[in-house]
Amino acid sequence: MRISSTLLGVATLVAAAEAQLRGFNYGAFFMNNAAKKQVDFEYEFNKAKNLPGTTGWTSARLYTMIQHGTTNTPITAIPAAIKTQTKLLLGLWASAGSANFNNEIVALKSAISTYGTAFTNLVVGISVGSEDLYRITPTGIANRAGPGVQPNNLINYIKQVRMAISGTGLSGKPVGHVDTWTAYVNASNNAVISNLDFVGVDAYPYFQTTMANSIGNANATFYDAYKQTVAAAKGKPVWVTETGWPVSGPKQNQAVANAANARIYWQDVACSLLAAKVNLFWYDLQEAQWGNPSPDFGIFGAGDLGTLSPRYSLGC
Ligand SMILES: *[C@@H]1O[C@H](CO)[C@@H](O)[C@H](O)[C@H]1NC(C)=O
Ligand SMILES: *[C@@H]1O[C@H](CO)[C@@H](O)[C@H](O)[C@H]1NC(C)=O
Repeated sequence: MRISSTLLGVATLVAAAEAQLRGFNYGAFFMNNAAKKQVDFEYEFNKAKNLPGTTGWTSARLYTMIQHGTTNTPITAIPAAIKTQTKLLLGLWASAGSANFNNEIVALKSAISTYGTAFTNLVVGISVGSEDLYRITPTGIANRAGPGVQPNNLINYIKQVRMAISGTGLSGKPVGHVDTWTAYVNASNNAVISNLDFVGVDAYPYFQTTMANSIGNANATFYDAYKQTVAAAKGKPVWVTETGWPVSGPKQNQAVANAANARIYWQDVACSLLAAKVNLFWYDLQEAQWGNPSPDFGIFGAGDLGTLSPRYSLGC
């Protein structure tokens, strides 16, 4: 019994080690609303692969299948990923209504037929939606991203995606959803979890303003959210799809945004997740291109990624 559970433990660890993903979140457009082109995605993907003090950031999480500014043309992050051999956690935007979601499906199918196995072999997962259940709660922010989606509609979207990929190069890829940890611990969303292959969780102690959320408590606050999500996940793998600490921005309750605190958060949270082989998509590589985000979570500020240095150390 003891031996077999030890062997099982080793086998699980080996599988997890092989499977671990390290990546960033990649929006479809810059802060001035200009669409990222293939060359922009390539530039970002190459920078992520060549960070000082850390390695293995070869995965990219996308929010949409649609090239920004088009109706349903596949996003140019796909040819950029093929060129740079970047693994993809695909995203279909689900917060903006069913007509928009149909266009996401069209772009997904079109990407499969246009790029074939060069594309599908790079896909590590498909997220149906991003924070859509959070957006419909009283504290959620319904903005130009759309009003969010009810759990039953989200399940319907998940089924549409499973149908769209069946019999294609993407069949068998894990289909999941990304939301805030608060959405998963909310029992009204239980049926969504039952329909997922993986659970993507976003957690930001910086924004948890009803709690003691100084940087000194941030690691404990993050792991509390993560562990509550794991407990709610019905045994499905939990991927950390967004977390980070801002280098600048307003004070949120006790949370102070600066590079020193972002460094502490990286050392405590990123380094422990990497050591534990948890799939991690950090927020974020660069936010400030052609604008002034506040807060700004970027490891890099605005400017040419080719020449910029990180605003905090990335060693573990
Ligand atoms: C719990 O989830 C339901 C369904 O998604 C949502 O309508 C409700 O606002 C959530 N409750 C809280 C407190 O977030
Ligand atoms: C962060 O929390 C985790 C989970 O409780 C713990 O294992 C780890 O030691 C903590 N790290 C720090 C630096 O406090």
